[in-house]
Amino acid sequence: MSATIIDGKAVAASLRAEVAQGAAELARRMGRRPGLAVVLVGSDPASQVYVASKVKMTREAGMESFEHRLPEETSEQDLLALIARLNADPLVDGILVQLPLPKHVNPGRVIEAIAPGKDVDGLHPENAGRLANGLPGLAPCTPMGCMMLIRSVVPDLRGLNALVVGRSVLVGKPAAQMLLNADATIIVTHLDTVGLPALCRQADIVVVAAGCPGLVRGDWIKPGAVVIDVGINRLPPEPGAPKGRIVGDVAFDEVSEVAGHITPVPGGVGPMTIACLLKNTLTAAERRFAEASQARAA
Ligand code: GUN
Repeated sequence: MSATIIDGKAVAASLRAEVAQGAAELARRMGRRPGLAVVLVGSDPASQVYVASKVKMTREAGMESFEHRLPEETSEQDLLALIARLNADPLVDGILVQLPLPKHVNPGRVIEAIAPGKDVDGLHPENAGRLANGLPGLAPCTPMGCMMLIRSVVPDLRGLNALVVGRSVLVGKPAAQMLLNADATIIVTHLDTVGLPALCRQADIVVVAAGCPGLVRGDWIKPGAVVIDVGINRLPPEPGAPKGRIVGDVAFDEVSEVAGHITPVPGGVGPMTIACLLKNTLTAAERRFAEASQARAA
């Protein structure tokens, strides 16, 4: 193996510590802790685990966590009414609606209902537009975490070739925008891209978020490239095992023979998502407090 492992757990822990310090400082100035509301509709098992982890880490960072668990059959109208209340609640700085939502709820309508200044997931079209235009806003947490991991090994991306596999609103598209904003040259691909291996071989930086276990192979990789694996896929269980292994979208053993740096799964991008959510919550709280102070002074 030639690649260095990028330790997402360590980078995430140091970001959470930095956020906790910022949160404590802001709490002293505001007279209250920054607050994050997390909304979970239904009982998707993976979402339950993610939400429990978000609540725990929010508290550990010295922020207030407001949990709203709603039954699967909650109507879109009731969910929109809750979001309107959270938008108006002065103690709530950030709102996160865990995805996926039940089939009868339109996720686009729900995301658009969140006040852009409280949209700590960075998914509101206003925040997506701000990211695209290079304006300050709130950016999606997973690609933000990918960028921090890339920058931990390659601080300056100017002129490098970066390839993204995947075009989701949650990861692929915003990752491409962030890489472009960092002056990299981007190629955005997906599972229908013709000649994906040859395109990939041109890339100094590869970000894979395709939801396809072991998609990216060793012979797709330029020697020394930085490979960021966003995939979280559970394989079928081995005989006698209760659960299958979690693997990424990158064939780790092969790719780590060729790449310069690689993120493991688990322990790579995963821990960064929540750390960046906390960072966005602090950012949202700081901006709301600054706006309120300006309004009082005016
Ligand atoms: N489900 C899986 N990842 C995410 C995420 O980053 N944000 C939200 N809201 N839901 C998710």
